[in-house]
Amino acid sequence: MRNLHGKVILISGASAGIGLATALACAKAGMNASMCGRDLPRLEAAAQTIRAACPGANLHLFAADVSRQAEVEAWVADAAGCFGRVDAIYCNAGYGQLRTILETTDREIREMFETNYFGTLSLIQAAMPHLRKADGGLRHILICASAAAKVGLPSYGHYSATKAAQDAVASALRAEMAHEGFAVSCVYPTGTRTEFFKRSGSHGHSNTPAWMEQSADQVANAILAALHRPRPEVWPHFLTRVGVVLGTALPSFAAAQMIKLFGRQRAQRSLQGRPE
Ligand SMILES: NC(=O)c1ccc[n+]([C@@H]2O[C@H](COP(=O)([O-])OP(=O)(O)OC[C@H]3O[C@@H](n4cnc5c(N)ncnc54)[C@H](OP(=O)(O)O)[C@@H]3O)[C@@H](O)[C@H]2O)c1
Repeated sequence: MRNLHGKVILISGASAGIGLATALACAKAGMNASMCGRDLPRLEAAAQTIRAACPGANLHLFAADVSRQAEVEAWVADAAGCFGRVDAIYCNAGYGQLRTILETTDREIREMFETNYFGTLSLIQAAMPHLRKADGGLRHILICASAAAKVGLPSYGHYSATKAAQDAVASALRAEMAHEGFAVSCVYPTGTRTEFFKRSGSHGHSNTPAWMEQSADQVANAILAALHRPRPEVWPHFLTRVGVVLGTALPSFAAAQMIKLFGRQRAQRSLQGRPE
């Protein structure tokens, strides 16, 4: 088990939800955390929450939009200057939109890829020189994909595509960087109670059955466990992983489940008076 005390982690999208919960878990483990989000007052409020639960927390805040590479580079340089090293990064910032494949505009798709996929790449690229030179560093890259990376959820198809792209990068990068002592962990949350579903246009409702839903703290604890003991895949909800394995083995069954799910989504939409 690795000692995380005094180690430095950069977390994108840390002003809310899973990113905030992860920053808190890392601070409690004695890590120094640099937190980014687009809105400084939200980051300050998040830092206050962390300091209330963990008074000694050593935090660095930086307002940056991960879809803008120059802002990510400025954030990483500032964080490295503040703490003097970077041991780990958690590429977490992301969002989804409740839209079918055909009703999503080209612009919406590209914007989502800019944040979820290219934002991930920008952070990896900007942090790499610092991760490499940290003496005795953790050399750990964590990427927040989703269980949706593995299934292609109806009404979240383009979102699933961004997550599948992150998943593919994690898998390839893990192999490419292993000889330098790097660990790459991909995180696959299922429906998590955060602001995600307010922002996605689903009026706060997830399609995740209640027994599969999890809290942001559960995801954060799984990430912390991976920081202690690196592993390629982080599944905070074990049964979801079992479901994904079964779905891969039984594609016709999986397809039937997705068709049923879309049927429920259509019924919900017509109740809400939205076009099908
Ligand atoms: N919630 C779920 O059910 C679920 C399931 C699977 C995977 N995930 C993944 O988990 C990650 C975190 O989601 P969450 O549920 O915690 O969502 P959330 O509560 O909406 O938090 C998203 C965080 O990302 C920040 N953010 C969004 N766009 C950004 C950008 N362009 N640049 C910098 N920061 C940005 C937000 O702050 P600002 O808006 O102030 O910038 C906020 O801090 C995402 O990658 C998501 O795809 C979530």
